[in-house]
Amino acid sequence: MILRTLLNLLRGGLNTPPAVPDVVVIQKAIRKRYGRVSRCADGLFKYPTGRAGAEGLGYDPTLVAAAPQEMMASFCGVGNPLSLGEISAGSTVLDIGCGAGFDLFCAARAIGPSGKAIGIDLTPEMVDRARTHLELAGVTNAEIHNASVEQIPLQNGTADLVISNGVLNLSPIKEQMFSEIARVLKQGGVLQFADIVLSQELAANQKSASAWSN
Ligand SMILES: C[S@@+](CC[C@H](N)C(=O)[O-])C[C@H]1O[C@@H](n2cnc3c(N)ncnc32)[C@H](O)[C@@H]1O
Repeated sequence: MILRTLLNLLRGGLNTPPAVPDVVVIQKAIRKRYGRVSRCADGLFKYPTGRAGAEGLGYDPTLVAAAPQEMMASFCGVGNPLSLGEISAGSTVLDIGCGAGFDLFCAARAIGPSGKAIGIDLTPEMVDRARTHLELAGVTNAEIHNASVEQIPLQNGTADLVISNGVLNLSPIKEQMFSEIARVLKQGGVLQFADIVLSQELAANQKSASAWSN
């Protein structure tokens, strides 16, 4: 037993496995940060947010103008995933990390009354806000769940299209996230996403649970 322990220690020392991120701690930090963003994104990001942010990212100006002010105040997308392909009328679109609901609103408009827009978000306050915002906007073909992208509460092969705006980078367990996205997509379904990536490794003193959400 002692010998085995010693051998394991030696193996660990010679060939240290990559650190496993603490998912619970990271997701707690994400919920805290986005609970705040759900009230207003102003001044909380290094890039333009809100209505001006959406305008700068090239969203259809009529949609930006039609979206409720409260919804736009919390918009913190990093790109325009809807611009990356056609969205067919009648299709089912899943928005992972739907935030305050602007991309979901755009998707719901694009698919029309015979389609279905589904949003999920990890942060309960975002879910509450998104539901209120979509009701304010008169959207009737959308539903929103408080859930994580690593455990999507949908059956296999539900979505024609999965969209994501600034969310993939926030998952500490990316393999599980991508496997869930693949599971809920229909055969031939598509993932359209906008995201941010690190251009270089972070220094040790920049790595923290809250850094995942900043
Ligand atoms: C950068 S915001 C983008 C929000 C929205 N897509 C937008 O464009 O305004 C990221 C959102 O993803 C949610 N989120 C972060 N990690 C998540 C996860 N693992 N599963 C589901 N949602 C997550 C956050 O709560 C937040 O609302």
